[in-house]
Parts: sequence; structure tokens; C-alpha cells
Amino acid sequence: MADPDEHGFAAALSAKLATHTLGNPLHFFSTIDSTNTYAARLAREGALEGTTVIADSQSGGKGRLGRSWVSPPGVNLYLSVLLRPPVSTAVAPQLNLVAAIAVADAIRETTPLSPTIKWPNDVLVAEKKVCGILAEMQTDTTGLRAVIVGIGVNINAPLSAFPAELRDKASSLLIAGGRTIDRSLLTASLLTHLEKFYLLWLQEGFLTLHSRWEQYAAQMLGTHISVAVSEGTVVGTVLGLDKDGGLLVQGENREQHRLLVGDVTVLGGYNRGEAR
Ligand code: BTN
Repeated sequence: MADPDEHGFAAALSAKLATHTLGNPLHFFSTIDSTNTYAARLAREGALEGTTVIADSQSGGKGRLGRSWVSPPGVNLYLSVLLRPPVSTAVAPQLNLVAAIAVADAIRETTPLSPTIKWPNDVLVAEKKVCGILAEMQTDTTGLRAVIVGIGVNINAPLSAFPAELRDKASSLLIAGGRTIDRSLLTASLLTHLEKFYLLWLQEGFLTLHSRWEQYAAQMLGTHISVAVSEGTVVGTVLGLDKDGGLLVQGENREQHRLLVGDVTVLGGYNRGEAR
């Protein structure tokens, strides 16, 4: 199906959306600096949980670790959801994992592709990144006030939309599957899965989503990785994910690390962990 213009996108999404909280209200922009920045402002002004910001393009899309996020018009999804979970700042980063599972489920539901997850929250297809997630917390003296979960999915971007230096790492669902995907369908599916997993996580904690996450991330188990953490670099073999979403890594001197944040590089590619 041909992708509608941005106004068509908003109308088509509203018609398909059957969520209770997420997307209510829905703020849609044809262009904005960053949906995360706008949602953060709404949060500071007291907007309710579920408030969702979507843009057809971003002029200052933000990635993790101060990077930018390539955000051309007419092809992709740039979405930020405002959540107000009654949890501590230590637990809130689990929302990165919850969102990654929701994106992977939405891709599986609306395309013939087989997504995987690279800890903590990159969604890949054929080993290339098609989705990035940036969860930003707002706190005050009483603790966590809000979390802005920003999700960028490369849906119908052609390879030419990516700068040359990203082309061997980044991809889109169109590049991976060879056909155009209906943005509104994928977005409605994503918000539905995110709402469902968010409620499950609130009620039962991350453990209930653990096996689903590990299925998507199975290709990481046993691989040799290098993780940039605030204190330096951890190099080792991925053992798994603990019950709270921490990545368990066996270091080169057989010491065990439990990582809560970090930027992972898979050394030598997937399925080559055992050879090392
Ligand atoms: C990453 O670096 O992997 C995270 C990328 C997150 C991009 C999304 S696009 C929608 C939202 N608005 C932003 O400015 N960033 C996030």
C-alpha cells in the first residue's frame, strides 16, 4: 500500500488506534525539533500519562549518548510517549527493554520480518539497526516524575536517506523486506503492544517479560562483546539477562559483570562467540 502523506498518516493512525491510555491525547506535527523534547515540555507542564507526540520529520532528532537521529520526512516513525510509572529511578530504565519488546512484536505482527533485540534496546533486522529507543527520566526531590519513551523506527527510508557512515549498520523495514510498510498500521500495533507490556510490567515486574526479551535477544547469548560503560570498557561473553533486565557478562578473567546501561559492540559479529 502506498504510504499516505503526513496528514493521512495522522488520520489513518487515529482511525486504527484502539489503545486506552497511550495516544490519548495524540499530538501530531509535520515537523518538530525532537518529539522527546516536546513531550518533556508537556510532562513538565503536567500532561497526563499516555500523552503521545508523533512527527513526520525531526530537525534535531536525539539519539542515545548525545548522538543525533536521522529523521527524514514521509517515511519513518518518530514517537514519544509520556509515562508516569510509580517506580524508582533505578527500575525505570527497564522501560527501554519493555519498549524494545513492543517494537519487535509490532514488526513481527505487521511485516514478514524477524526482528531481534540488541541489549539494551536496539531492534535489528538482519543484524542491522531499524529502531532506536531513548527513554529520558524527569525527577524531583520526591523521585521519578515522568519517563519520556522516545522510539524511532526506520520504516520506509531508502538506503540513500542514511549518511554513508551509517549504511553498514542501519537499515529500514523497506530495505530489509523489499516492500513498503503502512506506517499507521505499524504505529497502531506498536502502541497497542507497548500499552499491554507497560501494564504487565507495572503489575508483575520485568520478570514476566524476561523470557520474551531473551527469545528476541537469543543471538547475543554467547557472543563476545565490548561494552562502553561510564568507568571504561567491559569485554567478555554474554551470559544472559538477569531478572531485573541487567546484562550478565563473563569478563576475560572469568569475573562476572552485571551491566545496567552501556553501548554494546558485538566483536566479530553474531554466531561467532563460541569461536573465541
Ligand atoms: C538511539 O540512539 O538508538 C535512540 C534513538 C531514538 C530516536 C527517537 S525518534 C523519536 C524520539 N525523539 C527523539 O529526538 N529521539 C527519539
